[in-house]
Amino acid sequence: MPDPSARIQKLRKELEEHNRRYYEQAAPTVSDADYDALFRELLELEEAHPSLRSPDSPTQRVGGRPLDGFTQVRHTVPMLSLDNLFAKKDGAEGIRKFIVSVENELRRRDALPAEPLSWLVEPKVDGVAISLRYEKGIFTTGATRGDGETGDEITANLRTIRSLPLRLNASPNLPDVLEVRGEVYLPNAAFERLNADQAAAGEDPFVNPRNATAGSLKQLDPQVVSKRPLSLFVYGTGLVEPESAVPATQSGLIAWLRELGFPTHTHTWLCHSADEIAAAVEALDNERHLFGFETDGAVIKLNPRALRESVGFTSRAPKWARAYKYAPEQARTVLRAITIQVGRTGSLTPVAELEPVFVSGSTISRATLHNEDEIRRKDIRVGDTVVIEKAGEVIPAVVAVVPEARPPHAIPFDFAAHLDGKCPACGGPIRRDPQFAVWICENLGCPAQKTRRLEYLAKRGALDLEGIGGIVADKLVETGLVDEPLDVFTLDHDRVAPLNLGTEAEPRVFGSKNATKMLEAVARARSLPLARWLHALAIPEVGETTAFDLARFHPTLDAVAHSAILQDVLALHAAREAFKSARSQKDEDAKARIQLDLDAIEARLAHTGFGRETKKKTADSGFVTEVGPVIAKAVLEYFQGAAGRRVLERMSALQIDPRGETPAEKPALQPLAGKTFVITGTLASMGRSAAGERIRALGGNVTGSVTKKTDYLVAGENGGSKLEDAAAIGTPVLDEAAFLALLQTSDPQPAQGTLAL
Ligand code: IVH
Repeated sequence: MPDPSARIQKLRKELEEHNRRYYEQAAPTVSDADYDALFRELLELEEAHPSLRSPDSPTQRVGGRPLDGFTQVRHTVPMLSLDNLFAKKDGAEGIRKFIVSVENELRRRDALPAEPLSWLVEPKVDGVAISLRYEKGIFTTGATRGDGETGDEITANLRTIRSLPLRLNASPNLPDVLEVRGEVYLPNAAFERLNADQAAAGEDPFVNPRNATAGSLKQLDPQVVSKRPLSLFVYGTGLVEPESAVPATQSGLIAWLRELGFPTHTHTWLCHSADEIAAAVEALDNERHLFGFETDGAVIKLNPRALRESVGFTSRAPKWARAYKYAPEQARTVLRAITIQVGRTGSLTPVAELEPVFVSGSTISRATLHNEDEIRRKDIRVGDTVVIEKAGEVIPAVVAVVPEARPPHAIPFDFAAHLDGKCPACGGPIRRDPQFAVWICENLGCPAQKTRRLEYLAKRGALDLEGIGGIVADKLVETGLVDEPLDVFTLDHDRVAPLNLGTEAEPRVFGSKNATKMLEAVARARSLPLARWLHALAIPEVGETTAFDLARFHPTLDAVAHSAILQDVLALHAAREAFKSARSQKDEDAKARIQLDLDAIEARLAHTGFGRETKKKTADSGFVTEVGPVIAKAVLEYFQGAAGRRVLERMSALQIDPRGETPAEKPALQPLAGKTFVITGTLASMGRSAAGERIRALGGNVTGSVTKKTDYLVAGENGGSKLEDAAAIGTPVLDEAAFLALLQTSDPQPAQGTLAL
């Protein structure tokens, strides 16, 4: 048998190279199927040879476990912000003043060189700032900026970013410790897909790619993050040991980081005067719309790093750099019509149909008008010339009308009159929700709603029923083949194949091949796991993440419908409220009585694993549950209601019984269950959080300080005071070799068995 270690190394290198080609250069050289085959081979080899596993393997990018909360990391070198120049207010004059201020500062300190200063202009990506730490070339930890001094440790989430190198390219002067600084972002196309999914799930869309990125990085479950194709640019360093490894200029730094394997900006400009900088900033403004990701400005940086120290810093920003912010792009166009879209729940959303206009890199012909009140507030009328703006440069918004361009016949928009009091899809009755600004079609049989519900069931991430969507969904509903979404499980080839997707005059037949493909997808969906089904059923408040959380603690759909756990979540909430009111009334007896109730509920929830004590900052109290009372209530109410009861009956009649993955089914795989670990010092083979993940994957617990309850202290280099605590209490200490041996002997089967390929 060939040496597995050599093959494993080769596969890892190859896969990372493909990752880079795919995600960074958008120029893949292998098909998805070939990539998957290589990935699977690596996964199988690592499973067969656990001792050869390594945190820098591409297989480790996904599959981490959900965390209780984030631990905090102190940035040894603070993560500063930037002072701004604004295109509108400051312009080229602002750039000149900035250059002069830096020159003056250097002159004052006798540090101004004879030759002109050089500057590097880089794109300012509108994402989320992060810091990445590499030890001996291996990615160990990553963190958010936080307040600049301390951030959240989000290593597991960052690992899912395919363009983030887990291991750096070999280099003669690779520093022992290298912290790099950069920006994580979501490409525009991925953002649009994510929002389409959010909308289809009845969830609020993200406002812009930056919000979506921040929201993704805050997820406690790396599995969820791995489904969001985040990307990365790096542009600076934090702590580097030895410091001498870092090139002398910003442009050299960028080139060096690229050689080490980091994604860096390729559009940068080396300038030698304020004029050149102004030209570069303008050039960037013209090019950035083609980047495929959001930029909100340029960053102007003094190129020679040695001079930066002399120019200095304010408390929050370097004095040697500026962000130059572009004005958001606006355009004028004519509002041709207002159409109304019918959503899955019958909500009627007004949409602006515009004379197509080019803004920030794409042609806009539609924009949402949100709701009736927004239209009234802005007095938007059909025929008006409107100003549209890409807020965050992706979502087009109608910001105002141009009153002087209003045609004489334009009349104020009247939502109900516009619809003639009827749903535009089914002609059914409509009403305005008194609580919200939305109009709703009251006809549950409305075909538009039926189609939306079917599309929801069929979408990616739900049942993934390839081929059902758009016109096919329309026709399935129109012909009565599908009345409610689960009817797709009663479809057969002979009825689907002849479906006419065209018109009577111009027929376009669905066809046998397409029908077979579609029915195969439907057949596959029967055995999808519970999490996917919970998502697909469009239960109020249950999106992808919540579906996943629920499925981890319930074996079947019935178990969710009658969940004692969810009832306990509600009971816990009620008891907390009662406790608060007893406290405010200073009713000590009631407090004591409720406390007993609370303890009992918490004990039950802790026993199931659905709730736990935490001191982490995300908890609003000392005890948190996987989902909160709002979700618990929505889920239980849904299954008590007619719609939910009907779904349960249908599923049972169709003999579809999706299964969840409950902790109770896994005791044999949890050799470290009940054991509490503390990790201290630096481990050579993995970061502390990776070590924690490995322990948790085997059922163990990881806490922050050594107490009598600690079973083992895992001590790497420079263990510090925790070693003294352990010695004082008599806690067994594992050095790195002993820890690795323990992991290996405890690992009866791969800990990361649920890779989404
Ligand atoms: S340099 C000490 N370069 O902009 C220098 N920042 O408004 C600090 N950003 O917090 C930052 N692209 O999140 C730098 N090419 C770039 C950048 C960049 C985006 C972000 C970064 C920073 C924020 C400041």
